[in-house]
Amino acid sequence: MTVCEAPGKVYLFGEHAVVYGEPAVPAAIERRATVTAEPRADDHVRVEAEDLSLDGFTVEYSGGTGDRPDVDVPTPLVEAAMGYVDAAVRQARSAADAPDAGFDITVESDIPLGAGLGSSAAVVVAGIDAATRALGEPLDRRELADRAYRAEFEVQDGQASRADTFCSTMGGAVRVEGDDCEPIEAPNLPFVVGFDGGAGDTGELVAGVGELREEYRFAADTVESIGDLVRTGEALLADAVPETEPSPELLAELGELMDFNHGLLAALGVSARSLDAMVWASRDAGAHGAKLTGAGGGGCIVALDASDATETALSFTQGCEDSFRAELATEGVRVVES
Ligand code: PMV
Repeated sequence: MTVCEAPGKVYLFGEHAVVYGEPAVPAAIERRATVTAEPRADDHVRVEAEDLSLDGFTVEYSGGTGDRPDVDVPTPLVEAAMGYVDAAVRQARSAADAPDAGFDITVESDIPLGAGLGSSAAVVVAGIDAATRALGEPLDRRELADRAYRAEFEVQDGQASRADTFCSTMGGAVRVEGDDCEPIEAPNLPFVVGFDGGAGDTGELVAGVGELREEYRFAADTVESIGDLVRTGEALLADAVPETEPSPELLAELGELMDFNHGLLAALGVSARSLDAMVWASRDAGAHGAKLTGAGGGGCIVALDASDATETALSFTQGCEDSFRAELATEGVRVVES
């Protein structure tokens, strides 16, 4: 039995603009998806999912990815969870050159689903890592990140950047620009996350920004401005001492950029009333800055605050279902048991 766990992430800066070749800086957080893989004697795959912010379910299906199990949970949820596990198994089989490998797989996660925290990427990364290790063919991190990206790309019909999967694999803060992905040094940023209990439709939101960008020069300029802002943020991080507590000046400057980034994302139509309410509650509580994270439309915001004030304020904010501190996860995917 092999158990691997991989972290979720927040976008410090740059979501949406990254789709158009601008850089983005996601950072891994200490909320993880844990995947257990046990090889089977036959070519079946049995999946048990727990704590996926939805009712747990168990399904078993034969090696072919065409057949769908008959289970008593809403189809879109099964499709979503199974799609990612399926794609991870396909990548693991191909990487280990074991097309008929069967597995018993268990997925557990404390990352809210589809809410901008990279839950699916964490499941895919931990899943491929656990399954290839269980077959005695562990992958190096670059290949693991690449295969996880390909799995997401397949499930999301081509609408995936490398940001989530690379960040979940490597941990820490990373920089993504097109196919170019690199870990970057970062201080211990005091992230606080607010979650409205919902999720946005990433495909629809990405398409909406694309249409605005086609229609209006100023929308295209907004996307480019996000790129400029990310480069400014990166320079600030590059000057900071890695893995130490950030200075108040750095927090103030990063926070200002996060506020700016949220404004530009809102201008592109991807914020929501609940996200704006959580962003403003964070600012009023004294956070250095706050912005939505991920595709938007609903889901999560991320704020910078080393004190408890933002988390407390969020817990009293209408529309905020959950708020928590999210430490930077300096370690990416890791083996828990092998
Ligand atoms: O909501 P998430 O975590 O899937 O992030 C989406 C980020 C986008 O930039 C909007 C799309 C992408 O694939 O980069």
